[in-house]
Amino acid sequence: MSKKVGIARAHTNIALIKYWGKRDKDLFLPMNSSLSLTLDAFYTDTKVVFDDALTADAFFLNGQKQSEKENKKISQFLNLFREYTGERRFACVESLNFVPTAAGLASSASAFAALALATATALDLDLSREELSTFARQGSGSSTRSLFGGFVEWDMGTGTADSMAHPIDDADWDIGMIVLAVDTGKKKIASREGMEHTVQTSPFYPMWVETAARDLQDIKDAIAQRDFERVGQLTEHNGMKMHATTLSANPPFTYWTADSLRAQEAVRQVRMDLNLPAYMTMDAGPNVKVLCRASDMDYLVAALKEYLQAEQILTSLPGCGAYVLLETDWQESERSFSRGVEHD
Ligand code: DP6
Repeated sequence: MSKKVGIARAHTNIALIKYWGKRDKDLFLPMNSSLSLTLDAFYTDTKVVFDDALTADAFFLNGQKQSEKENKKISQFLNLFREYTGERRFACVESLNFVPTAAGLASSASAFAALALATATALDLDLSREELSTFARQGSGSSTRSLFGGFVEWDMGTGTADSMAHPIDDADWDIGMIVLAVDTGKKKIASREGMEHTVQTSPFYPMWVETAARDLQDIKDAIAQRDFERVGQLTEHNGMKMHATTLSANPPFTYWTADSLRAQEAVRQVRMDLNLPAYMTMDAGPNVKVLCRASDMDYLVAALKEYLQAEQILTSLPGCGAYVLLETDWQESERSFSRGVEHD
């Protein structure tokens, strides 16, 4: 019994009602509950091997050994599971990110969800996905939601045991998302630092917490009624409110660039010209995501090409929850990765 192996895939998710701010930094307890859409086009595959022969944890991302700093994050995350199970061995973690370079999407959501499921599989843990999401949360908050597919809520909970995600709806009613990747560079202010600074200094922040709770209730009602326009309006308004808290922080900052504003303008123009429902949201970076009808995606993309380059426009349908992979799947992943299938 010298090795234990677990492999898993998790898709990324985009929040429609944002998680923005922590009430407990160490436990990753959020200030507000959030709701997201899991996307099938972007995912992370991760293999975890606990091995007697190792004298330290090791972390390889896209085939490259990672820095001490990255390694430490992974080690601390594995410690949660070691403490829970009594496992003493170190592990080798290999991850492949299937996120097109052009997407410029942060991959921490899919990364920690895949790592949580792969680790739980390696250690034969009998946890529900909800329970597993409380582990994922402590790697990166947004990863909590990537354990599930479709529309997913992360309930802020009362403490670490019940701050967990759960699925709301499969999103199988003609839902799509377009990513306008205007800038693919690394983010200048990580979401972690950005949200902390905002909580501490923005006079608008209490209003964010208050209205996010209302937005969440409203969007859940709208999803239950399959009222797409209402879901979209709430998404756009909530995202703008989140960004308003960064502008009102002290010193102020923004994730938007001139290109983000141009992309936003393009969305406004196109939805007016085509008279189609399409609603934007942005995260802790310059790219714009557009929630739309899957059946409208081709028309919207064609019209957006008037304003953006074709390779800046990516599309996705709703994705499924995280799942376990077999060794043969992993080998296939490695092959497609080295063949240069879209990745970063
Ligand atoms: C703007 O999950 O990246 O994308 O918990 O500190 O790792 P940490 O932050 P992270 O924050 C995501 C913020 C967001 C909104 C969201 O995804 O809900």
